[in-house]
Amino acid sequence: MCGIVGYVGDKNAQDFLISGLKRLEYRGYDSAGIVTLADKGDVTLLRAKGKIANLEEKLAKNKRKDSIGVGHTRWATHGEPSEANAHPHRAGDIYLVHNGIIENYKELKGTLKGHEFKSETDTEVLVALINSFYKDGKYSLVDAVVQALKLVKGTYGIAVVSSKKPDEIVVARSGSPLIIGVGNGETLIASDASALVGHTKRAIYLNDGEVALVKKDSIEVKTLNAEPVSAKVEEIETNLSAIQKGGFEHFMLKEIMEQPDSLAETLRGRIDAKNARVHLGGPGLSEAELRKIKHLVIVGCGTAYHAGLLAGYYIEQFTPEITIETVIASEYRYRSAYIPKDSVALIVSQSGETADTLACLREIKKQGIKTIGIVNAIGSTIAREVDGGTYVHVGPEISVASTKAFTSQVIAMVMFGLTIAQAKGVKPGILKPYIDEIDKMPKAIEETLDSLSKKIKEISKKYKDYEHSIYLGRDIAYPTSMEGALKLKEVSYIDANAYAFGELKHGPLALVDDRFFEMVLLPKGALYDKAVSNIQEVLARGGHVIVMTNADNFDLPVENIIKIPTDIEIFVPILMNIISQLFAYYMTVAKGLNVDQPRNLAKSVTVE
Ligand code: G6P
Repeated sequence: MCGIVGYVGDKNAQDFLISGLKRLEYRGYDSAGIVTLADKGDVTLLRAKGKIANLEEKLAKNKRKDSIGVGHTRWATHGEPSEANAHPHRAGDIYLVHNGIIENYKELKGTLKGHEFKSETDTEVLVALINSFYKDGKYSLVDAVVQALKLVKGTYGIAVVSSKKPDEIVVARSGSPLIIGVGNGETLIASDASALVGHTKRAIYLNDGEVALVKKDSIEVKTLNAEPVSAKVEEIETNLSAIQKGGFEHFMLKEIMEQPDSLAETLRGRIDAKNARVHLGGPGLSEAELRKIKHLVIVGCGTAYHAGLLAGYYIEQFTPEITIETVIASEYRYRSAYIPKDSVALIVSQSGETADTLACLREIKKQGIKTIGIVNAIGSTIAREVDGGTYVHVGPEISVASTKAFTSQVIAMVMFGLTIAQAKGVKPGILKPYIDEIDKMPKAIEETLDSLSKKIKEISKKYKDYEHSIYLGRDIAYPTSMEGALKLKEVSYIDANAYAFGELKHGPLALVDDRFFEMVLLPKGALYDKAVSNIQEVLARGGHVIVMTNADNFDLPVENIIKIPTDIEIFVPILMNIISQLFAYYMTVAKGLNVDQPRNLAKSVTVE
């Protein structure tokens, strides 16, 4: 979603703003803009619909040496993607970039009679409101921003400059991340640490309700109530190679291929296969607290939700007397669900910033329930607001479609379940097979990728022109097929829905015809024979079936069999999901689409 960058120092601000915005492209956007200020008050405002390349075309004719400015990538919410709606927005001498949504913008707009609105955005209302305090010189820039923000309902991360003050940037946050990079004689602003990597390793993560006056060699943070804040300078852990393609054609492929390593990072120091024990420090629950847990509520959106569904299937296999409910955050936040006191909530989010997931976290905390984060982005809002947590440590995930995060989220949650089971005194013999397999997973993923990538690429060529597909699985293969279908639809735009195999006869079987292909996830195990019968039902109706399986004896005449050469059994759905990821990737590349930045989607959904 929207991205913010800012620079004040001695270097060329346009250069940093453009390179910073390019780093934020992965988040999804549909227009972009920058403003820079010269000492004498000259302003260069450039905005363009579409990709940053369009902005660069304008920049080529408007090169400046200015050393202060702010920039933005916009993902449209209020008003279509257009140059007029792109940020920065202006009122008087003030220029503003904004992430988030001003919920009471209509009401505020009614009070701003002196400003002629040029866009349909809520952001222009905010800049006009700031200017109403600033224009008569009664308030400094930072105080004008504070006065305006006190009237605002909604979420924001903002960066504001004034042509009268070409040496300062004012930033503030409430519900939308804002990071201040501390440099040597320069200060950088970004809504996402990836824009700062390579420029500085030191950063201040603003908290909600804080505002900062930023100059090239000073940063003053205070609350909206004017209390000074002594902000902590933290280290940015991300390095340059983690946010570059590193020889791969696309980030999605790089991130799929990284999974042996990224999962190994998730497991580091947490799995003791020799003694069949899991050690998770992050959740911070005592043995007694773990023993008391009777219910788990798992909350997430998109891929994180699917990871929660799959983890729930596993945890209930080995943890006695526990109920697990995995919920979609955007639904759950408005439900009147009763959460028993002996519950723990797992809050699952790659970015740690998803608005609905964050809202659920806050609702659940209000009920006095312990919350545990399963988060990737270090220092993100969810990571900071949960009571305890387990970082998945997969490194930056740049492709909009989540891949490596899913794998590690599932395993991190299963490890949390194993921690509960250990505390509840479940016999080591029951837990050992899970721990042994988790330990072997990085290697098994590597072998799967090595042995099957070529084949998946070939198969995808045959199916790329279909417009519809059905993903089918039972038990642990069902949530996995949901994630496979999501992956395919989000990047290739092929209609893809998942069904529990047992539900086939209750409706979806009516769909089977030549316009559809069926992707079946068929693990060995108790329900194998039942699933094989289900496949026969599809074949009998002329289905175009692809089967992925770890069984040796599968011999139905389907169009394609993807045999997974592995001795992994319990966690074979994770391997199947990696095949689904590759399939979605190659289908999309074969169709010539933008696999890393699918249309209409954003990496981090920071609005409701
Ligand atoms: C967006 C992303 C998905 C992701 C979902 C939840 O829709 O495109 O890939 O699964 O948000 O994001 P989170 O950061 O909370 O895991």
